[in-house]
Amino acid sequence: MKIGCPKEIKPQEFRVGMTPDAVRDAVAHGHSVLVETGAGMGAGFTDADYTAAGAQIAPDAESVFADSGMIVKVKEPQAVERKRLREGQVLFTYLHLAPDPEQTRDLLDSGVTAIAYETVTDRAGGLPLLAPMSEVAGRLAPQVGAWTLQKANGGRGVLLGGVPGVLPAKVVVIGGGVVGTHAARVAAGMGADVVVLDRSLNRLRYLDDVFAGVFRNAYASGAATAAAVAEADLVIGAVLIPGAAAPKLVSRAQLATMKPGAAIVDVAIDQGGCFETSRATTHQDPIYEVDGIMHYCVANMPGAVARTSTLALGNATLPFLLALADKGWKAACADDPHLKAGLNTHAGKLTYAAVGEALGLDWISADAALAL
Ligand SMILES: NC(=O)c1ccc[n+]([C@@H]2O[C@H](COP(=O)([O-])OP(=O)(O)OC[C@H]3O[C@@H](n4cnc5c(N)ncnc54)[C@H](O)[C@@H]3O)[C@@H](O)[C@H]2O)c1
Repeated sequence: MKIGCPKEIKPQEFRVGMTPDAVRDAVAHGHSVLVETGAGMGAGFTDADYTAAGAQIAPDAESVFADSGMIVKVKEPQAVERKRLREGQVLFTYLHLAPDPEQTRDLLDSGVTAIAYETVTDRAGGLPLLAPMSEVAGRLAPQVGAWTLQKANGGRGVLLGGVPGVLPAKVVVIGGGVVGTHAARVAAGMGADVVVLDRSLNRLRYLDDVFAGVFRNAYASGAATAAAVAEADLVIGAVLIPGAAAPKLVSRAQLATMKPGAAIVDVAIDQGGCFETSRATTHQDPIYEVDGIMHYCVANMPGAVARTSTLALGNATLPFLLALADKGWKAACADDPHLKAGLNTHAGKLTYAAVGEALGLDWISADAALAL
């Protein structure tokens, strides 16, 4: 198959859909890969790296889209890219269609077979192509929280790990899933005094089994959350209720109970945030202050570490990408119900129920699409 990897054009997106190692594997499987010139630069991969891996370099995006049977990207296709998609072509990327009627309409009009990273599942009921980005954002959260706590950034001037003779900072992580666990591990590794709050007893049992002695955990009742937040130097928001906006767990009034200059890192901001005072920010202007509390609410945190994020995403997408290229999308989806769960559009039909329900559009099952 001819696989195409265009340069990402969404503002501030530096990741790339395929690493040179992914290209090498695809070529070893007998496929040809067309990479747009400069596509990997933001993640530190040169055209020469791709050429050495066996890719051909295309001078522009038009030729990548025109000449490829499958397009592999990171972000949802932008309007100009959507015009280049066509029936018979496979698009493999993050889509997030439910809140995006315009993109959904364009993909349906194009006829493209679109497989969304975020709806591919795994045996454990997880989302294997979302998890790497949660791991990145989780590990980044204490790092940006530590920076936000610095005096010059408006923080209270507290070092996460303390020093001999000075107590470490108190870090509270609300939500102990993928983001929260990675955030807690890194904060503890930096020497902070860390507690994770969650409402899932099974998750708390797991955290207790695996991380006893590294960080503490507690049930996230309203009272326990309020007490922990009032004592914290840094609060990391990491909750998720699948398919719903993040619950607001800390009100504006509660900020008055916090230490002046304390910091909030609301990783859940991409789902609306779990603090009443959270609003999405960018890497250019990541922090703001409300009632003396510093807020960091960047909605695409993994973009700050584009190289690590590209490598992590590439590790997770590669087996699916190879299955799609080796077998064709129909056989690959028929063989793997988890990949089939990623099918969102095919030949002008919406094939993902939740998107249809969110947008009030008709949809058919993925099985019905396979039978077309
Ligand atoms: N900002 C970014 O760049 C970025 C990157 C990756 C993920 N995220 C977001 O981070 C959030 C967490 O993602 P995840 O992958 O860790 O999800 P996850 O499902 O692995 O974990 C979520 C945890 O929240 C817990 N939870 C739910 N309601 C709660 C409540 N009321 N109180 C306490 N805990 C509660 C759940 O029990 C679960 O353990 C999501 O909103 C995700 O979209 C943001």
